[in-house]
Amino acid sequence: MKEIDWSKLGFHYTEPDYIVRAGYHDGVWEEPYATKDKFLHLHVSATCLQYGQEAFEGLKAFRGVDGKIRIFRWRDNARRMAQSAKGLFMAPVQEELFGKAIRLALEKNIDFVPPYGTGATLYFRPLLIGTTPRLGVGPGRDFEFIVIPSPIGPYYPGKFHCTTFIVNRYVDRAAPYGTGQFKVGGNYASSFRATEAAHAMGCDCIFLDAKQHKFIDECSAANFIGIKGNEYLTPKSSAILPSITNDSLMTLAKEMGLKVTRRRIRLEELADMSEAAACGTAAVISPMNKVVDTEKGVTYSFGNEPGPVLSKLYHALKDIQYGRADDRHDWCDVIEN
Ligand SMILES: Cc1ncc(COP(=O)(O)O)c(C=O)c1O
Repeated sequence: MKEIDWSKLGFHYTEPDYIVRAGYHDGVWEEPYATKDKFLHLHVSATCLQYGQEAFEGLKAFRGVDGKIRIFRWRDNARRMAQSAKGLFMAPVQEELFGKAIRLALEKNIDFVPPYGTGATLYFRPLLIGTTPRLGVGPGRDFEFIVIPSPIGPYYPGKFHCTTFIVNRYVDRAAPYGTGQFKVGGNYASSFRATEAAHAMGCDCIFLDAKQHKFIDECSAANFIGIKGNEYLTPKSSAILPSITNDSLMTLAKEMGLKVTRRRIRLEELADMSEAAACGTAAVISPMNKVVDTEKGVTYSFGNEPGPVLSKLYHALKDIQYGRADDRHDWCDVIEN
């Protein structure tokens, strides 16, 4: 194992030994291979640079309580990346190739899997880019699939805590039926004006639907969830990313006897919710203590400690990821090493 102070790692890139790459030319993917070279020899007119033809993913491997490594729901990331590829006219990476590349990236960087108990994990960033040189606007026909592993620290180095979220109305992250449903770089670049302003205040932000600014869409890199009575509420929108964490939490919420509803959620409905949070791979659940609507002069408060329902869901999912609870939905690929 590498000499790293695992508990001090943040959500930052730590250089792995190897990345994994595979090129696509003449309609065929090559076998994925591991390389120490972290640089691309890329044409300046490549479609990823000129027209933003790129998509990415994010998933984690956990060292469990039993010392085994668990890769969480990678097939769902593979499926989502295939959807993103379709959305941006790129060659999809088949599930088999995606899985092979993740396994190879893990094998070649096995010493970077953090030990159990540190809260740190091995994060994988699969990336798909268009590499054909083009000057005329249009998609390329050559692609590169890359898996970049990096150990990352616990999202909550202290205890599980709340964050304040700001309602954003001056930047639209993604249009209805645009690219919001895909995990593509352009969605993030377009949100930086809003997210960086919120981060400067120690907050995060909530994006509303771009058409009417009435309904909650999602957060910058996470879905929205709210608890209203015995109901788990999450937005239905064509502009948000289908979160794998949200899907997992919905399954667990149903098992806990909650009613799970996916529908359009008006911002003002926050007033009727007892708990609210952002959810995604990075933090699992990021509870909100307050949502501040500066324009309307309204603050929705949920208390300074994570609420009981979201805390229960948070621990239930983490218990599965760390092998402390039965993986009854077959979400983890267990690797003995
Ligand atoms: C825009 C956006 N929404 C939601 C999510 C959460 O998705 P997941 O739970 O699959 O990480 C992410 C992170 O990947 C994201 O970037």
